[in-house]
Amino acid sequence: MSADPYWNHNVHYHSVVLAAVPDGCRRALDVGCGDGLLARKLAARCGSVTGVDRSPEMIRLARASGAGNVVFREADYLAGDVVEAGVYDFVSAVAVVHHTRFEDAVDRLTRLLAPGGRLVVVGLARNGSLLDWLISGCGVPANRLLALLRGGKRGPAGMPMEDPALDWGEVRRAARRLLPGCRFRRRLLWRYIVVWDKPREGSP
Ligand SMILES: C[S@@+](CC[C@H](N)C(=O)[O-])C[C@H]1O[C@@H](n2cnc3c(N)ncnc32)[C@H](O)[C@@H]1O
Repeated sequence: MSADPYWNHNVHYHSVVLAAVPDGCRRALDVGCGDGLLARKLAARCGSVTGVDRSPEMIRLARASGAGNVVFREADYLAGDVVEAGVYDFVSAVAVVHHTRFEDAVDRLTRLLAPGGRLVVVGLARNGSLLDWLISGCGVPANRLLALLRGGKRGPAGMPMEDPALDWGEVRRAARRLLPGCRFRRRLLWRYIVVWDKPREGSP
């Protein structure tokens, strides 16, 4: 049984994020960390973890249950110089890039990574085509079953939410254009996951 304090569609994909953490990860950053649940899990796999969120209420919740090698900062990750760029071996962004223009979010996230670092984005998109609606419909029974098994779908009260502006096709094309060589997968519970490795300096 899971030790998570609650289950929702973001928490459901934490295991995928954790599996993507590179061996020997020294510094990790979780942007839009919310109440810090993922950042605390990353702390078991990384030397140090920074969780950043611009919501004072989320950072208050995160600090209330912080672990030793995790720090939480109330900050806007998009603002230059607020979060140190070019130093993180691993950057995760779960359900946060749709809070701004996708291009701006990806540009900033890639700058935060150290050369050779890995970015994982778990994101939302809207249905644009009939096929999108059909695929999304397949998630309904899976969601019902999982929610039943996990005691319902819940999350921290007051967590800032936004609706996604881009549809599935738009976000897939933008990811492939902005993150050459990325692995993009649409998942059943209305999330996509992009994994991208930043080239090392001097690599082609
Ligand atoms: C839908 S919540 C997801 C939180 C968490 N990642 C999770 O999966 O539970 C999105 C979070 O991103 C934060 N956020 C949105 N834009 C941000 C920005 N530019 N800088 C920092 N945090 C941001 C919001 O305050 C909110 O807590």
